Formats: sequence, C-alpha cells, structure tokens
Amino acid sequence: MRNLSAPRKLRLAVLISGGGTNLQAMIDRSHAGTLDAEIVAVLSDRAGAFGLKRAEKANIPAFHVDYAKPVELKTAQRLADLADLDRRQKILKNADPAERLARLAKLVTVEHEILRTLDSFRPDYVCLAGFMRLLTPYFIGRLNAGGPRILNIHPAILPSFPGSHGYEDTFEYGCKWGGVTVHFVDEGEDTGPIIAQAVYPVWPGDDIERVRTRGLSIEYEVYSQVINWLAGGYVAIQKDPNGNTRVEITDPKYAEILARWVQKACTPRE
Ligand code: GAR
Repeated sequence: MRNLSAPRKLRLAVLISGGGTNLQAMIDRSHAGTLDAEIVAVLSDRAGAFGLKRAEKANIPAFHVDYAKPVELKTAQRLADLADLDRRQKILKNADPAERLARLAKLVTVEHEILRTLDSFRPDYVCLAGFMRLLTPYFIGRLNAGGPRILNIHPAILPSFPGSHGYEDTFEYGCKWGGVTVHFVDEGEDTGPIIAQAVYPVWPGDDIERVRTRGLSIEYEVYSQVINWLAGGYVAIQKDPNGNTRVEITDPKYAEILARWVQKACTPRE
C-alpha cells in the first residue's frame, strides 16, 4: 500500500447492493472537487442494482459478481483453509459444520473474484456502501494485510442496532436520536473500529421514511468527511491498553465539524 501520510487523492473501490445513493454522493463530491478521492471501480452483488447504472453514467468501471454461481468445494479449498476460516469467522452461526464449510466455500470463491477484479484498479480503500453480504476472514485478511483498508457505513450508532435494518430498529425502538457510523471492517458483524459517528433527531410525528431520508443525508456528509480525513492523514490508528484497535481523528477542525453535523441535522426541522 502507498504511503498515506501526505495529502493526496485516494483511489476508492465501492461495493454496493442497491440504489447507491451513498455512491452517488461520493461521485458528486468527487466531481465537485470536495472529495479528496476518485472512485476507480464499483462492484455489486446484484446485477440489477441501480448503483451500477450510476457508476456507468459517471464512466466508472462497474462489475457484477454472482453469489449464486455453483461452486466446487475443491476450488475453494485451493484458495483458503476453510476449516481455519471457520474457526476465525464470527458471523455464520449455523450449527452444522458441513453447511458452514459449504457456505464459506461459496463466499471465498466469490471473494476471490472480487479481489482479482479490484487488484487491477489498485484501490487504497474499499468502501462498503450498502453492500449487504458477509465478508469472510479470507477477504478481510487479504485487504487488511498492511493495515485496515475496508470501510463501512452503518445506519445506526454502533454498537446499537447492528445488522441490516439500522433505521427501522432505531425508529421502532422509539429512539429520540438516531445516528450513523463509519467504521473499519473486522471479522465481526459491524464490530470494527469506529472512525466517525454523527446523530440526528427523531422528531415527534416522524415516520420511518422521514427518519431514513434525514439519516441518509448525514451518511453522505460523514462518509465523505472520513475519506477526506484519510486522504489528509488525520486518521490515527492505535491500540488501547487492552489491545483493541482504536481510531483518533487528529484534524484540528474536528470539534467544529461535529458541531456543524449536529446543527445541520437539527435544522431546518421539516
Ligand atoms: C445505507 O443506509 C447504508 O447505511 C446501509 O444501506 C443503505 C444503502 O443505501 N447499510 C447497511 O445497512 C449495512 N449494514 P444506498 O444504496 O442508497 O447508499
């Protein structure tokens, strides 16, 4: 991986599954010159994902990877030690080991294809933006060999409401504040080191769609700010005394930026 200490434009690969509004926000900011990054490739696990069309319209190489393709156990075994992956993985909770191995074989085979595709674009970071697939320790280990390089945006204040329904969970629980988290990806489900979080109010009378719309607009701000912090060398990765990876933002404007996010989320009240 290249030296990331000097400010420069990052090369990003973006993985999506759906509409791709986060991707679009990145593309728009990149074109407007407010994102210190270029999107070099977009990849989706769904052929019909609208995000692929967004990428094509912006002349960004766009790919579909097929998770439903039949897989040979032997091919997967050549790529990775599946039993070892099974010991390290924290997400597949299936009680039947044979089923877990078959599932891992499938995932590893597709992940190998994703890595091969991404390699040729030399991304500095891989950004998950609504990518709704489990990633195995094979994929994570390959990308993170020189330090954390996979980012995810999650629509809740982690560790609350992990999983794929962050807005629904926040709203249904009756939270008065919702939020979004950008974190590095580790081997658990939404458990990786947190880089940035921002909150928004849930107003009396809101419905889930208003909450989602408000939250998504915060997602776009926070994700692009994190990318700019990475590009500017403002993301310090450390170990705490217990050996956990912790992230500190060293931007002198940090407090100002957080205050701006809160203010923007609260006004105007629609
Ligand atoms: C976003 O809200 C993102 O935070 C969420 O999917 C949505 C994708 O929207 N991701 C997760 O829930 C991951 N667990 P988009 O396709 O319009 O960017």
